[in-house]
Amino acid sequence: MKYLITGAAGFLGVNLALRLLREGHEVIGLDNYHSGTEKNISLLKKWEKFKFIKHDVINAYDIPCDVVCNLACPASPPHYQKDPIYTLKISVLGTLHALENAERHKALLLHASTSEIYGDPLVHPQTESYLGNVNTTGPRACYDEGKRAAETLCADFTRLGRVDARLVRIFNTYGPFMRDDDGRVVTNFIIQSMNNTPITIYGKGQQTRSFCFVDDLIEGFIRVLALPSNQGPINLGNPNEFTMLELAAEVQRLIGSNQPFSFQPMPIDDPRQRQPDITKAKKFLQGWEPKIQLSEGLSKTIEYFKNENK
Ligand SMILES: NC(=O)c1ccc[n+]([C@@H]2O[C@H](COP(=O)([O-])OP(=O)(O)OC[C@H]3O[C@@H](n4cnc5c(N)ncnc54)[C@H](O)[C@@H]3O)[C@@H](O)[C@H]2O)c1
Repeated sequence: MKYLITGAAGFLGVNLALRLLREGHEVIGLDNYHSGTEKNISLLKKWEKFKFIKHDVINAYDIPCDVVCNLACPASPPHYQKDPIYTLKISVLGTLHALENAERHKALLLHASTSEIYGDPLVHPQTESYLGNVNTTGPRACYDEGKRAAETLCADFTRLGRVDARLVRIFNTYGPFMRDDDGRVVTNFIIQSMNNTPITIYGKGQQTRSFCFVDDLIEGFIRVLALPSNQGPINLGNPNEFTMLELAAEVQRLIGSNQPFSFQPMPIDDPRQRQPDITKAKKFLQGWEPKIQLSEGLSKTIEYFKNENK
């Protein structure tokens, strides 16, 4: 099979590409390095069946393939808030162009949506039927609303029979190939502890997140693509929930750092609680559920960053 991955230079893109290349597929990576790295693409270029095209997805493209994996979009708040109008364009126009390319080549499409479409949820844990609580004008809206509009495009192309667009709603995922400066909580905590500096905690650290190790997520992608028919949006994430204080303590334990925490004000619109209900994924994806729990996943991620910094 020939897979086109938009956003191949990013964290999930490179992990997905490696999985597919290991299975013997052809992979074309598309990226403009907006938030991804040339280093990730250099690694992929070692594979004979990998081809890279530098392209900005806000412009249309025509690339023959069997499957389009639409991942291009900055995912961490500092990256997507840096140029919010561009972020919105990437989500909407990038998804439109991915769908048009899939339609032209009769390809299946996987769209990387997000738990952010639930906003600051009023229902807990979040099932796919929950419609969300998003502030349309806040600093996170460029990402959240862009991703909501992208889902609408995917649903309409599917309803019209133009493309079979599979929607996965990804909850916080972490692991090797994250950027050490991406500003996401797991990398922040690991890098601060490795540098033996205080971990930054927003608010009182009681807000919770559930963290999925990347290999589990990628397995979910593969199973969604293998489904015989489109089942609508599917949550993928790890339902085990931790407070930021618990995460910080676990990172410090694994690294052996004992700096005091540095408490800072909560960012605007930061969700207080996030936890996927994965009943639907379990039902349709042959019992899929995360296998790698927090300590093991964090250890693998810490190992990656230690090797990177050698
Ligand atoms: N990692 C997570 O926890 C998570 C959670 C929910 C959703 N997602 C979604 O998964 C996808 C991948 O996320 P990630 O964590 O790998 O993020 P990332 O920032 O590491 O990767 C995104 C990639 O897209 C590329 N890109 C951005 N704008 C582009 C453009 N205009 N043209 C071409 N390439 C462009 C970037 O350069 C980068 O390589 C995103 O769509 C994100 O919204 C990720």
